[in-house]
Amino acid sequence: MKHMQMIRDHSLVLLSAAGVLLAVSGCGGELQRVTPALVAEANRGGPPTVSAETLEAGRTLYVTRCGSCHGLPAIAAYEQPAWKSWVRRMAPKARIDAAQESALLTYLLAGQRLTNPSPYEALGAGL
Ligand code: HEC
Repeated sequence: MKHMQMIRDHSLVLLSAAGVLLAVSGCGGELQRVTPALVAEANRGGPPTVSAETLEAGRTLYVTRCGSCHGLPAIAAYEQPAWKSWVRRMAPKARIDAAQESALLTYLLAGQRLTNPSPYEALGAGL
């Protein structure tokens, strides 16, 4: 009997650990990772000038500098022009320099296109 009790307590601990992990990752799913698809999206329509490292730096800035005053906004929640103006407006608040702002915006815009393509792209029109 004593042994059974211990097993039950143990699984309770595991369950609450899983709950904490779920809370950390949020309800909107994982924040866009730097995948080959994201790198391709960032470079689409031009020579490959955006590296995975730049995108990773942008993602890290987003996670570490943009969620301290408010929650981390979902990337798909804003259109491209809205992201451009919000990042411009938030850069001084987040105390990031021009190069960091550029990496952050590159990450967000590529992520936005990947998760939320324009209706033309969704139709395969290639516009
Ligand atoms: C020092 C606090 C602070 C930091 C750091 C910060 N923000 Fe904000 N953010 C605000 C405040 C305050 C608002 C409310 C609107 C305003 O004041 O312009 C806001 C609003 C926003 C909004 C609009 C939310 C809406 O209601 O639609 C977005 C998007 C946003 N921030 C993105 C970012 C990003 C991206 C970063 C990182 C570069 C960032 N924020 C860092 C304080 C902060």
